[in-house]
Amino acid sequence: MDYTDEVMSLPAQVLSSAPFELERGYRHIVFSGMGGSGVVGRIASEFLSVPVVLVDDYSLPEYVGKEDLLISISYSGNTEETISVTQMALERGMDVVAITSGGRLSSMVRKVVKVPGGLQPRAALGYMLTPVLETFIGREFRKERVVEAMRSVEGRQEEIGGLAKEIVSGRLIPVIYGFSPFRAVAYRWKTQFNENAKIMAYSNYFPELNHNDTVPLKGTYRKEEFKFLVFWPPEDPRIGKRIEVTEQVTGSRFQRIEAISVDRVSRLFELIYYGDLLSLRVAHERKVDPRDVSVIEELKGRLL
Ligand code: F6R
Repeated sequence: MDYTDEVMSLPAQVLSSAPFELERGYRHIVFSGMGGSGVVGRIASEFLSVPVVLVDDYSLPEYVGKEDLLISISYSGNTEETISVTQMALERGMDVVAITSGGRLSSMVRKVVKVPGGLQPRAALGYMLTPVLETFIGREFRKERVVEAMRSVEGRQEEIGGLAKEIVSGRLIPVIYGFSPFRAVAYRWKTQFNENAKIMAYSNYFPELNHNDTVPLKGTYRKEEFKFLVFWPPEDPRIGKRIEVTEQVTGSRFQRIEAISVDRVSRLFELIYYGDLLSLRVAHERKVDPRDVSVIEELKGRLL
């Protein structure tokens, strides 16, 4: 499959995914995963109404144990850090659910949510995220509306192409500001700019960035020449006020990326898909291959 088709299969991935069963109630839901797989837990953590622990490293925290569930996510099933965390969880007698297309992970764990193989992990987000969200917030997840929201993004190609050109010309800085419950989506944009478009990018979120980024926003950039990206509109009017006041006091210009769907899960997928398509367009403008992440593969190979 052509990589653009891979990325644009997100709506179909959402439609074809199903929830999994939880055997009992748990004290914490622990997510383990790296990169394109790790972002699933980050995104889910802002939507679940149970205590969540995120692990993007080799080890489980001390306090995690038998009363907790590990959801171990690795698209390839062979990521070193994720395998290590899964091994620790099994040794501690924890229940584990693996979300993977195969690899070592699928043979370590009894309960596996199998996802189709052959894609780039970051292009398989729908297959990995949808089962988690449907399991924990099923009633809020209206698939038809979510797909409709993503279709509306496909209709915004002209706007997306314009932004891609501005990024490549250096006028629009790939700094992405989010807010709850889309802080991890801003991070997803950063990683998609890194891997698809091969550019440095950075994300932060309101209100936290008002206590740090606000200083260089005021000081470093010639205001009339540069813009930064911000999601819009926030659910909390206090955040809306912060965005506007930040622009006023720093003199910065924010390019608002509007998510217009009525429900928040649809807005979530709208923003994810927008960032995915924008990163593809930036790759296209820069004439780089958006699929190629061979340097990550080389690094993984050398660590074996
Ligand atoms: C590649 C990508 C990477 C991987 C990461 C972990 O598309 O997005 O960030 O997701 O190296 O590998 P997996 O997902 O196989 O556990």
